[in-house]
Amino acid sequence: MIDRINKLLAEIEGLKASKADEIEVLRIKYLSKKGEVSALMNDFRTVAAEQKREVGIKLNELKEKAQERINQLKESLENSQTVDETIDLTRTAAPIELGTRHPLSIVRKEICDIFRRLGFSIAEGPEIEDDWHVFSSLNFAEDHPARDMQDTFFIARSPEIVLRTHTSSVQTRVMEKQQPPIRIICPGRVYRNEAISYRAHCFFHQVEALYIDKNVSFADLKQALLFVAKELFGADTKIRLRPSYFPFTEPSAEMDISCNICGGKGCPFCKHTGWVEILGCGMVDPNVLENCGIDSKVYTGYALGMGVERITNLKYRVKDLRMFSENDQRFLDQFESAY
Ligand code: DAH
Repeated sequence: MIDRINKLLAEIEGLKASKADEIEVLRIKYLSKKGEVSALMNDFRTVAAEQKREVGIKLNELKEKAQERINQLKESLENSQTVDETIDLTRTAAPIELGTRHPLSIVRKEICDIFRRLGFSIAEGPEIEDDWHVFSSLNFAEDHPARDMQDTFFIARSPEIVLRTHTSSVQTRVMEKQQPPIRIICPGRVYRNEAISYRAHCFFHQVEALYIDKNVSFADLKQALLFVAKELFGADTKIRLRPSYFPFTEPSAEMDISCNICGGKGCPFCKHTGWVEILGCGMVDPNVLENCGIDSKVYTGYALGMGVERITNLKYRVKDLRMFSENDQRFLDQFESAY
């Protein structure tokens, strides 16, 4: 028995292996359950009682040496790998492909830039809002359909916390904190409980503008609208205002632009009317000003709001709204040359 152990000890001392799988073969040969060391351990039972002590000590020594040798081999393999690996730090890096701006970002930026040239600055607010900022402060009646569960995502019932359905909530936040003159635009994401289809999604983006000062009139609104329409869609663009209703403006209007596809002659896109609707607007209702602590006898103002997806569709003819949020690179790459 002692001879067998000594022979194995010598063998183990001289073990060589330079690859991970070779080392594994050796580990199995010596240290696994069916390996050489285990076999000796099993035979230990047959050793005469007076030899047990000596053989036992030798056997343990063998086991430790085998383990040690295998570990040594593993270590030197790891070391040699890191040393061998030649990393050329001076090599030219693989090209990093530049991404493109998202079409909605392109158009939102364009809208914001136009308003900035008119002296507007950007204001932002939370997407999770309370009832006051989304509805009550903006003169929505208690039973207005927009407050219905069907249209609005409610997060809590009392107090009512919702995902904002329009960026008009930012109007209130600014007016509560700041006295006129106020000249802001509010870009942001809004949420509505809609069935998702090619023409509706449960979230979309708006840019809203608000201007409050002494003597702001409907003429100022119309002038701003015409400027924005021409900047966005070209100098030949005409605008048309149709009476409409919003709780927070009085009077209210919807603005159409002359169809930018047929130039106003009539085509399937504008349903042969020559006009396409692009935004809602109006003079801020005095109730809204008072709700926010602004004296409606001293100040007046106008507001307008538009959907970024809608404007983007008009500019780039994206037929399916869902493409904006699917992250399909084949779609996004097409906006490479836009900025
Ligand atoms: N908040 C309106 C909407 O979500 C858009 C809008 C219309 C905003 C008229 C305004 C406005 O500020 O004056 O449909």
